[in-house]
Amino acid sequence: GETITFLGLESSCDDTAAAVVRLRDGQAEILSSVVAGQVALHADFGGVVPELAARAHVEKLDVCVEEALAQAGLALENMDGIAVTAGPGLIGGVMAGVMCAKGLAAGAGLPLVGVNHLAGHALTPRLTDGLAFPYLMLLVSGGHCQFLIVRGPEEFTRLGGTIDDAPGEAFDKTAKLLGLPQPGGPAVEAEARNGDPKRIAFPRPLLDRPGCDMSFSGLKTALLRARDAAMAEAGGLTRQDRADLCAGFQAAVADVLAEKSRRALRVLLADAGSHMEAIQTPYVNKTGQASAPVLAVAGGVAANSVIRAALERVCDEAGARFLAPPLRLCTDNAAMIAWAGIERFRLGARDGMELAARPRWPL
Ligand code: KG4
Ligand code: ZN
Repeated sequence: GETITFLGLESSCDDTAAAVVRLRDGQAEILSSVVAGQVALHADFGGVVPELAARAHVEKLDVCVEEALAQAGLALENMDGIAVTAGPGLIGGVMAGVMCAKGLAAGAGLPLVGVNHLAGHALTPRLTDGLAFPYLMLLVSGGHCQFLIVRGPEEFTRLGGTIDDAPGEAFDKTAKLLGLPQPGGPAVEAEARNGDPKRIAFPRPLLDRPGCDMSFSGLKTALLRARDAAMAEAGGLTRQDRADLCAGFQAAVADVLAEKSRRALRVLLADAGSHMEAIQTPYVNKTGQASAPVLAVAGGVAANSVIRAALERVCDEAGARFLAPPLRLCTDNAAMIAWAGIERFRLGARDGMELAARPRWPL
């Protein structure tokens, strides 16, 4: 059978990562996945500082690669190719990764495959579950929010996305406004557990408009206003106020994502009627059969249990399957990049030394 082993590199945001992934006889296996985060590095700045991030990537890439190869018990010579995130992302970091990958590929005489970071996220359900094309992907992270119909390793249809902030960004800003620690998502979710989601009314932006576009920046404004009103009333923010604000905010995000997912699933289903049979699936589904329509998620916000429950409900109602890969593969990692590299490689993709780092790169 066919065996392809790839080293993957990721450095487009604030995680430096390297991984080794193998495809053997239709089964994908993650042989190693090393992620070095930069949370402490940027903690004092209230966000990722691009220059600091790029320097840290340069320093850590080699170590991550060595570690990933060692954990896999393999040498560079055992690889069939090297995949690297070539964008979109913070350009300094992407350049560091691309340079490193070029050096390794040239040194070992290996093929180089550039990968779109978003494609890495979007193809993860195939790495973890052998999911067949086509399926619906909701990518919800700190930097991204979009619905994609994933039709092939290089074939994506964007159904809509945020027109301003990403949901993770909104969670982070909410946490900041309420004096909670970063990253904001987990902190807001924990606070919300003791809160009443109905006490403070939050808007449901863009639900009155057709389509799958979303907006989250208005929630931040609503939160600020509600916070100041609560503070003016009581002379300060009580524990309960904070919990209710978090719960109300979270419910609004969940509602918006759920309703837009409902619409996106309708597009997939309408689409499936005409395309499902026609699409050839090069990678075999683990169950070996035509799968039910699937909504898969990726990105850190997919960790949120209230949002997950809302999406699961939508899938139940639509007769669709909800698929959430393990969290460490939902957030930034290099296994998804190695995998996307393997998928492109199988289609014949090869990038030479002219491979460029791209700050913007829509799918
Ligand atoms: O995918 P990710 O690790 O990094 C990128 O944005 O690329 O996502 C991080 C984002 C942060 O904004 C974080 O606050 C959010 O995901 N997040 C959550 C939760 N856990 C992480 N948001 C809501 N609820 C959570 N439990
Ligand atoms: Zn990402």
